[in-house]
Amino acid sequence: MIYNLGSINIDHVYSVPHFPAPGETLLSNSYFKGLGGKGANQSIAIARAGGQVAHIGAIGQDALWARDKLAASGVDVSGITVLESPTGHAIINVDPSGENNIVLFEGANVRVVERQISAALAKASPGDWLLLQNEVNNGAYAARLAQDMGLKVAYVAAPFDAEKLREILPFVNLLSANEGETMMACQALGLPEDDIPVESLLITRGGQGSSYRDGDQRYFQPIFPVEPVDTTGAGDTFIGYFIAQLDVGKTPQQALRMAAAAAALKVTKKGTAQAIPLLEDVISFIKTANH
Ligand code: RIB
Repeated sequence: MIYNLGSINIDHVYSVPHFPAPGETLLSNSYFKGLGGKGANQSIAIARAGGQVAHIGAIGQDALWARDKLAASGVDVSGITVLESPTGHAIINVDPSGENNIVLFEGANVRVVERQISAALAKASPGDWLLLQNEVNNGAYAARLAQDMGLKVAYVAAPFDAEKLREILPFVNLLSANEGETMMACQALGLPEDDIPVESLLITRGGQGSSYRDGDQRYFQPIFPVEPVDTTGAGDTFIGYFIAQLDVGKTPQQALRMAAAAAALKVTKKGTAQAIPLLEDVISFIKTANH
């Protein structure tokens, strides 16, 4: 079982001809609103990958539909509270190459209280996972509690925050970061990549594939080349699939391959949570890609 303490956002997504320059007013080509947030995307990816996931987070009255969408995807939503504060949201611009930039409003995501986390984790058993990112508050509290309870802790260092990294890292088994975040983590800790003090380190390196260090073992997975339409949520899809596959007993290499294929499929579709592929589609994609 994977407990995911994570953000739930309303994503406002604009297709733009280019990213706006300072002072520029830019007309978008299209707009849609959907479920997002690194945490929610990861929970959906875990559920679609065949994993069992319980989300811990907070929304406002304005996004009860977001909780419904998570539930409809198979996520246990009993750990999500509804507050009097607005739901977090993201303004996402996507350019013609599929690249994005994102502005976040935290809203209810940073109003998760300790009592809520302990109540949700009270159902956990040793060997379960706690997954967390940096878009919610009380991450260090949750990670410490999970470690004390014998859970494995996976931490995605995004959006990067040096202080949170230093606070949470002592409780982490698996650290996940992209290349830029890894460089910032090395700077923040004053250590080279190989010396980052975690049992397992997963690094996604964009077009260069992904690497995984697990104790003394090292793994590498190349990308599945695709034409990108929207890269938003690709990292969330990757870690969600990866951890779900590990949790159902796949080897790290199998989990990496499945995660890379899922992330590749995601970038061929517009949107975040809604564009995260189903396991059956990932499996047939791998067969056709012949990787
Ligand atoms: O990783 C993509 C996500 O980052 C978006 O869904 C947005 O809400 C932000 O949290």
